[in-house]
Amino acid sequence: MEIIVQQDSQKASWLAARLLRKLILEKPNPVIGLATGNTQLQLYKYLVQMHREEGLDFSRVMTFNLDEYVGLSPDHPASFHRFMWDNLFSQINIKPENVHIPDGLASNIQAYCDRYEQEIKEAGGIDIQVLGLGTNGHIGFNEPSSSLSSRTRIKTLTAQTRKNNAIFFGGEDHVPYHAITMGIGTILEARTCLLLAFGQKKASAIALAVEGPVTAMVPASALQLHPQAIIILDREAASELKHLDYYQWVYEHKPEWQKI
Ligand code: GLP
Repeated sequence: MEIIVQQDSQKASWLAARLLRKLILEKPNPVIGLATGNTQLQLYKYLVQMHREEGLDFSRVMTFNLDEYVGLSPDHPASFHRFMWDNLFSQINIKPENVHIPDGLASNIQAYCDRYEQEIKEAGGIDIQVLGLGTNGHIGFNEPSSSLSSRTRIKTLTAQTRKNNAIFFGGEDHVPYHAITMGIGTILEARTCLLLAFGQKKASAIALAVEGPVTAMVPASALQLHPQAIIILDREAASELKHLDYYQWVYEHKPEWQKI
């Protein structure tokens, strides 16, 4: 795992945006896995800025989002569809047919999830999967105890996750109990995993995911098994890491050709 600690979330998001820009410039048909959440907002602002100011071209980009609430229509204000269109897709030149977000209204959920997996395969797999982190260590909506080899499926949200997301629904009572999410096995097949986490409230989950044992009780710890996992943090999210000095030392002494 490569742990990169930046002074603040702006600098961290800029680094992540540069990684995605590099992929888009270098690959004729880039496939990007995307995540929702406050963590990603600055990253998406930077991508929009790169499109507007430098003409970064998204017309060849295909995207697959990690997850969506079950029972929400795409135009529900708290749906991840809305989040993605409002914060990114409506402001870049992506082709709507290249956007994939799980359908919260799918009638046969398992058949739908199997098809989603198939579509990722047909696209040639995901080049870079962007990830955020739940305060309980979840990635996507893979809550603690999710199988480390799980595939896209329906999951029941924990009480903590429902509470964390209550603000978007005008109260906990309105938060759905279920979501469709790519599995941990699905996520680990991306060629690069790029996890962002900011703020003190993510510090203990980051410490467990990076320096604790690989365990289904901390789904993000599965990234320890990935050959190309990049974790970009601000100082607060990194504050409980025991080997912080070492990660910074490694980053400062990276060979020139390896630098982002
Ligand atoms: C939700 C999403 C996750 C995201 C997490 C963190 O649970 N399913 O993909 O990583 O929220 O959200 P935030 O970035 O707002 O802290």
